[in-house]
Amino acid sequence: MGVLVVNSLGASVAGAVEARRGEFGTLADGRKVESVELANAKGMSVRILALGGVIQELKAPDRNGKSADVVLGYATAQQYVDQPQYFGATVGRYANRIAAGKFSLDGKQYQLETNDGPNHLHGGKRGFDKVLWKIESVSAGSPAKAVLTYASADGEGGYPGKLQVTATYTLNDKNELSIEYRATTDKPTIVNITNHSYFNLAGEAAPTDVFGHRLTLFASKYTPVNATLIPTGERRAVAGTAFDFTKPHTIGERVRDGRDEQLRIGRGYDHNYIVDGEAGKLRPAARVEEPTSGRVLELLQDAPGVQFYSGNFLDATSTGKSQRVYRQGDGFCLEPQVFPDSPNRSDFPNARLNPGQTYVNTMVLRFSAAP
Ligand code: BGC
Repeated sequence: MGVLVVNSLGASVAGAVEARRGEFGTLADGRKVESVELANAKGMSVRILALGGVIQELKAPDRNGKSADVVLGYATAQQYVDQPQYFGATVGRYANRIAAGKFSLDGKQYQLETNDGPNHLHGGKRGFDKVLWKIESVSAGSPAKAVLTYASADGEGGYPGKLQVTATYTLNDKNELSIEYRATTDKPTIVNITNHSYFNLAGEAAPTDVFGHRLTLFASKYTPVNATLIPTGERRAVAGTAFDFTKPHTIGERVRDGRDEQLRIGRGYDHNYIVDGEAGKLRPAARVEEPTSGRVLELLQDAPGVQFYSGNFLDATSTGKSQRVYRQGDGFCLEPQVFPDSPNRSDFPNARLNPGQTYVNTMVLRFSAAP
């Protein structure tokens, strides 16, 4: 069974996924925020904003075929600017933290903004999440596709090189949403771009946190952090610790285990896991199952690491789309990326991009339902 969609040549395509352009209101300064919606006939749809490439809504069916919005977010565009929690956003140029905002390339030191205590986080105050991207193309079909681009000027946010970034979102009729970031530069620079969706598979409007979600992480090691959440350099085995999700555990089972120093530092999970298998190849990173709805999210990625964040800093200062106040643990993030602070650690995966090279970060979010 599939929906019939008319493609650009006027022919009908069975099983094709619909694509629509729209608008998502205006910002306080009067700029319009364009949007795109991709929707298939299997109950899955996604709304993407030109502002930050934000995934503002993501609907997926439960075990009875009932769809619900499974990502946290705001009802208006301006809230994404005023109350940054990076809901659904594209984060960059460097997602995650860089110690003291400093790094050097070819002997030259660079100083980035320090916007997270002493460190640089998610590209600084005006990172990729706060800028208007260009909706380059939108196409229905099998799969449907939206391509967004952003040109980051040389020196923007303190980063060297003009960076040309493309974010491609595709939705197929197998309930797979893929996101692919690509970037090129005209000078050596550093890059780490990811998507910062906060999921709650019970539904964004459901009055429940994510602690009952059962999580599997295909990662036997993670990178512990210091008091300001910068990796110490150690690659620690998860075995025998509260960080072991190689077999499914609920997110809440051990999140309050105060005997674990790493959980105390992060106020929960806020750590980079080293995904098993070969970086550069699409492989399973995570599987999350929400028992009441049956919704299952599987994450496949080619990046070496995934930041698992259990929504520790959601502190009731943001009111979401369905007028629900978001509190600690109401959503979780899985952010495929190179490791935090890689530019300062030669033993971590490389975050450097040279002219002539193309940075690629691909992730697939596969939704299904368990009986
Ligand atoms: C970080 C958290 C941070 C959050 C901001 C996550 O990627 O790991 O420490 O508070 O982003 O929304």
